[in-house]
Amino acid sequence: MSPPACRLTAPKKISRRDALRGFARGFAQAATTLPLLGLLNACGELSLSHDRAFRQPGLREKAAREGKRFGAAAQSWQLDDPGFARALAREACVMTPENELKWDALRPSPETFDYGGYERLAAFADAQDMALRGHALVWHESNPAWLEDALKSARRAEAEKILREHITRVTRKTQTHIQEWDVVNEAIDPRSSRKDGLRETLWLRALGNTYIASAFHAAREAVPGLKLVYNDYGLERGDGYGEAKRKAVLRLLDRLLAQGVPVHGLGLQSHLRVDRPLGGIAFTDFLRQARCLGLEISVTELDLRYGHLSGGAEEKDAFAQDYLREYLELVQQDAPLGSLLTWGLSDRYSWLRQEDDAARGMLPLDASLERAAMWETLRERWLS
Ligand code: XIL
Repeated sequence: MSPPACRLTAPKKISRRDALRGFARGFAQAATTLPLLGLLNACGELSLSHDRAFRQPGLREKAAREGKRFGAAAQSWQLDDPGFARALAREACVMTPENELKWDALRPSPETFDYGGYERLAAFADAQDMALRGHALVWHESNPAWLEDALKSARRAEAEKILREHITRVTRKTQTHIQEWDVVNEAIDPRSSRKDGLRETLWLRALGNTYIASAFHAAREAVPGLKLVYNDYGLERGDGYGEAKRKAVLRLLDRLLAQGVPVHGLGLQSHLRVDRPLGGIAFTDFLRQARCLGLEISVTELDLRYGHLSGGAEEKDAFAQDYLREYLELVQQDAPLGSLLTWGLSDRYSWLRQEDDAARGMLPLDASLERAAMWETLRERWLS
């Protein structure tokens, strides 16, 4: 595909006024709930006085000083761990509910919605003046069995109704806390046999390729000011997989935007595996073309997998941080990166421990909640 030309009229983004209104709402809430806690930071929130145990303020405050936002994914049960909850409040200004907003958490049955996990996270976010990032309205994983069954036999109109109703209700219910959503997650699979690279999913089978546009339109119609993101992984890879994925994602986004579908952002999941080559110029070209389409780029799920490398711990740590430095350099080559979220804050609760429960070094904090090598790398190479 030839590189798409820059559009003269960029798709509508959240306006500065809307953003400020969101911030103002944050101020108002903060002013009533937390009158004594501290200073306003650039997240439009009150910054917490940082933990005495740490001489330096958290990434939250450091990022905020530069008008950037650092955040992390977390799960509601993790807040029962007071040390972790304190660390999260200190370091993150945005939190992504790691699982609580997926269909299988929210929709125990076709008729019911269970916001229990989400509400715990939202209460914490309120108390700590954090924003929430919505994840994910459409994904091929973490779906309840009833949905998979229903979509197998549903006629198109019925399937469309299920999709739209879910998106409408969830975005409206959460709109006081969530102004940004991963609307569609991981729709491209370079191994798919389809020419357009679309992953064979329950939604594709039920609705054909229009399910993606429908999802974005439904979110926009339900809550017009939301920032709507397409989120995917492996886009940074320097191999055939990365190349095919970048090409198909760009083609998809170009097509959607040309049809007037409200997509505002591209989320780079960034689950990095340090034994995989990075895409270099091909990756930076891809980012440039995505920006050229009017999309805002953000890092949404950063973590580093390197336990499988051979060698001593120190050597592996150094190699992994070099890899991360290179990645951050590529992502920021042509434009600053305003928002960076890691998938978990501490090794203590990383999803990567499902594979190796002794794994370490994947996130900004180690399993004892001490600042780890990634924390330093982010401070040095993402913040100034
Ligand atoms: C993962 C969670 O971290 C796990 O706890 C859960 O069991 C499966 O999903 N890409 C995504 C995330 O977009 O939703 C996934 O989260 C990790 C990969």
